[in-house]
Amino acid sequence: AKLCEHISRLDVDKVLIVTDKPLVELGIVAKAADVLTAQGVEVIIYDGVLPDPTFDLVEAGLSLQQQRQCDCVLAIGGGSAIDTAKTIAAAATNGANARAMVGYFKAKVLPLPLFAIPTTSGTGSEVTFGAVISDATTHEKFIVGDSKIVPKAVALDPELITGLPPAITAATGMDALTHAVEACLSSWASPQNDAYAEMAVKMIFKNLPIAYANGADIEAREQMSIAAYYAGLAINGAAVGNVHAIAHQLGAWYGTPHGLANALVMPEVLRFSKDVAEARLAQLADLLELGKRSDSTSIKADNFINAVAQLNQTFDIGDKLDAIEDKDITAIAERAVKEGAGYPVPKLMDQQECEEIIRALCA
Ligand SMILES: NC(=O)c1ccc[n+]([C@@H]2O[C@H](COP(=O)([O-])OP(=O)(O)OC[C@H]3O[C@@H](n4cnc5c(N)ncnc54)[C@H](O)[C@@H]3O)[C@@H](O)[C@H]2O)c1
Ligand SMILES: [Fe+2]
Repeated sequence: AKLCEHISRLDVDKVLIVTDKPLVELGIVAKAADVLTAQGVEVIIYDGVLPDPTFDLVEAGLSLQQQRQCDCVLAIGGGSAIDTAKTIAAAATNGANARAMVGYFKAKVLPLPLFAIPTTSGTGSEVTFGAVISDATTHEKFIVGDSKIVPKAVALDPELITGLPPAITAATGMDALTHAVEACLSSWASPQNDAYAEMAVKMIFKNLPIAYANGADIEAREQMSIAAYYAGLAINGAAVGNVHAIAHQLGAWYGTPHGLANALVMPEVLRFSKDVAEARLAQLADLLELGKRSDSTSIKADNFINAVAQLNQTFDIGDKLDAIEDKDITAIAERAVKEGAGYPVPKLMDQQECEEIIRALCA
């Protein structure tokens, strides 16, 4: 409510709310829309967002924005709604072409004022420079990266997240953990990125199992919202790594939800990276007070990797992805190796190493 009151005090006539149908049905969108309407702001709702949004979805929202001349965008939802809203807001003032926003710093003109109310605690998209949009035909994921698309203000309201089902709670929370861990291992990480990432790791290990077991635990939900936000701040500087490079392809090929794909891939990539990342992984084990202080760094690193795998067991995610087909592995690995080479990873994967990581996930 506070964020909506803030928006209504700005020089804004028509707000485009970008969201999805389940959130409209749950009544979450009405809570925000009613406050705006009561303050005399016209509200237009685009509820066509689907998980892993495509350019077509962005274009549909964009044409509604153009038709109705909306001068502000409010995202209500998970990463999919926020990424769609970011791209609409940027394209609206930059030639109304969503695909032209792909790449880095493509928005020459300031986007429409953008605000966000996240309803998952995962992507951190409410604070990151990025939006991920897919091609409906090739399923390839494209990044729109620009500091100008970060929302101007965000409401982290744990009350809205209490109804998030356990499986989505777990998957989205593991996405946030992946951001934090990949940021910790990144060669670009600044001390500030490290501080946010480490706080997020600690908060997620403590609170995600509670939020998974009892979605109504408002304290755990609030801590997870803040942790996902911190992890998003961490990847703004430190970027992501090989876990995301592989997970993006699994999402593209099989529609595996982003967080679930990260959760499954993370232990394998950490095992692969251990020889060069052992010291950092051992620090994370110390942070979580795993094992004994006197353990060797190798044992501590293993303890951390096993703790991540254990979380997957707790959340019934397991360690295999049935969808993977042998015939696809070469092509999936080719794209993942290419994407991974663009990230500040502790250890680059070659084609064979990447294929081995993917094979380890096969049932
Ligand atoms: N921009 C970034 O920095 C960034 C980072 C990581 C991932 N991503 C992208 O974000 C997308 C994934 O976002 P996500 O993981 O938040 O999931 P999502 O937005 O796709 O939502 C997943 C499902 O949860 C439902 N849902 C959301 N909130 C709910 C609530 N409070 N109660 C009940 N149901 C609810 C949605 O309706 C949807 O069906 C992917 O496209 C991914 O590539 C973006
Ligand atoms: Fe992610």
